[in-house]
Amino acid sequence: MSDAQNDFRDLLHAQRVWDAPLPRFDPSAAPAAPLPLFHAWFAEAVAAGQSEPHTMSLATADAGGRPDVRTLMLHDADERGWHFATHATSAKGRQLAGHPYAALGFYWPAQGRQVRVRGTAVPGSREESQADLHARSTGALAAALTGSQSEVLPAHEDLVRASEAAWERARAEPGAEAETWTRYVVEPQEVEFFQGDDRRRHVRLRYRREGTGWTRELLWP
Ligand SMILES: Cc1cc2nc3c(=O)[nH]c(=O)nc-3n(C[C@H](O)[C@H](O)[C@H](O)COP(=O)(O)O)c2cc1C
Repeated sequence: MSDAQNDFRDLLHAQRVWDAPLPRFDPSAAPAAPLPLFHAWFAEAVAAGQSEPHTMSLATADAGGRPDVRTLMLHDADERGWHFATHATSAKGRQLAGHPYAALGFYWPAQGRQVRVRGTAVPGSREESQADLHARSTGALAAALTGSQSEVLPAHEDLVRASEAAWERARAEPGAEAETWTRYVVEPQEVEFFQGDDRRRHVRLRYRREGTGWTRELLWP
């Protein structure tokens, strides 16, 4: 085995999780629906100093049913579901058009917590999508105007040129529309809250949509 491989394994096996004391989570005191608990855990993650608690993994499936995953920003979580925005023409956008189911994953190591959401990904209206874009920074608008997300980039200089033009347009025209920018909402069917425990008696509380309400059940860790 090469030195580099050995160094990697030593480094990998020296890593620890949950060095700090973890909070207790009493699932019997959890609310009847997942949204208030998500809001509470999010606020607690911020208070615990968790960096970037608003980033999440978004998993989709391609036409062959093969999974794909990437990191995205959470734009909102409300009664409709969990919101994000991206280009409808990107790989994930095409995957969602063919197979409108998504899974989201949040990991907040400061408290040993994970939240998983599974449901249907519904694209928002054009107005909603453009409003999402214009509520954000000039840089976010410029990035969206750059376009071509997920297409093969022949050379980095092509990106620099397109990005410069997009920045110029975003500054001059803050209301510019990025045609393919789309806000999606993941309407949840299942939401699971995982609280890590230092004795490995992790608590898993799953909410499952049943009719207009939610069933709560514990899962073996
Ligand atoms: C921290 C972080 C946040 C990101 N947020 C977004 C986002 O909100 N929207 C987006 O389209 N891409 C975002 N990206 C880029 C995506 O991870 C991904 O590279 C891009 O959307 C293309 O994915 P796709 O080819 O699977 O469609 C983010 C990346 C990182 C690392």
